[in-house]
Amino acid sequence: MKTIMPFLRCSALALTASIAVLSAPACSAANVKSFGKLPDGREAHLYTLQNASGFRADISDFGGIVVSLYVADKNGKLADVSLGFDNAADYLLKKAPYFGALIGRYGNRIAHGKFTLDGQTYSLPLNDKPGNIPCSLHGGDVGFDKVLWTAKPATIEGNPALVLTYVSKDGEMGYPGTLTVEVTYSVTPKNELRIDYKATTDKATPVNLTNHTYFNLKGEGNGSILDHVLMMKAAKTTPVNAGLIPTGEIVPVAGTPLDFTTPHAIGERINVPNEQLKFGGGYDHNWVLDNQSGKLELVATLHEPASGRFMEVFTTEPGLQFYCGNFLDGTLVGKSGKAYGHRSGLCLETQHYPDSPNQPSFPSTILRPGETLKSTTLYRFSAK
Ligand code: BGC
Repeated sequence: MKTIMPFLRCSALALTASIAVLSAPACSAANVKSFGKLPDGREAHLYTLQNASGFRADISDFGGIVVSLYVADKNGKLADVSLGFDNAADYLLKKAPYFGALIGRYGNRIAHGKFTLDGQTYSLPLNDKPGNIPCSLHGGDVGFDKVLWTAKPATIEGNPALVLTYVSKDGEMGYPGTLTVEVTYSVTPKNELRIDYKATTDKATPVNLTNHTYFNLKGEGNGSILDHVLMMKAAKTTPVNAGLIPTGEIVPVAGTPLDFTTPHAIGERINVPNEQLKFGGGYDHNWVLDNQSGKLELVATLHEPASGRFMEVFTTEPGLQFYCGNFLDGTLVGKSGKAYGHRSGLCLETQHYPDSPNQPSFPSTILRPGETLKSTTLYRFSAK
């Protein structure tokens, strides 16, 4: 990969972003590199956002993918904790299971790939079939993870940022309405990767946006995540059927292996006989967060005892899909040449609940003309 355009992250560039630039930043040299060519010949790019302590996110305009995330351990040693590849084409050619990507138009599953909105029924691509039951997953065959976004480096409140925009056409992947999406990644001095989502539409449509980073706090490719200790501020979950579609119930997790209201190692109860764990092949469920306020609050923590790396998840979203990499099987080899084995990465996808367009009792995911969807998620890193 060669550097093709060094530039400064300073106020002139920042002003081109459609978000408020609150202070004239101390300019810092940023860089953008080529991230290789896509199979159709278009070039993808990789942008680096870094703070003074070395915490760094490398993000591509292809799929808005968080390619790398460098985080210090308790001795100050940096490691890349995000699974991924070293060029854009591999994400398509190797059929990456959404490593690091932005997910849309609808993150998670829609039953039978169908929903009815304002009296009209819409059909979506059936691109997944857990338990042999077809559904539409993560926006269909070509979701937001597989498109080239328009990228603009910016500085927001003095922090390096990347503003990504994508216009999803009316009818794209079966969804109604032209949806204009803006996602802003920023890196803060507190070792946070912040993600601000914004969307507007010209026709009513379901929208559920998230990020699908697979974390391994030991460093990508360094074995299983079963020893990571997870806590989620979520007393309830939305149980699923064999097709990983919610039944519509909202049930307490107390007394089940899905109870992470106090910290537990992920591997501690993963083999306990339990129908939900059987359907998911492990953890692959939506938790109903205690925080239903729409305000940015701490909802989960993840600790890897050997390195000491600690991650806190904050979100404005009402749900959290915890997926522990059950479908990884060692066939994909990542950017540093290491195979990604079973459960070698885990996702904490902040979201609205799966299949909400077909579940009237779940919080609505319908965006209408004149409304602006706004959502924020923040991953904060430290070590202890
Ligand atoms: C889902 C898994 C799915 C994975 C695809 C996750 O968000 O919960 O069921 O297999 O995405 O990589």
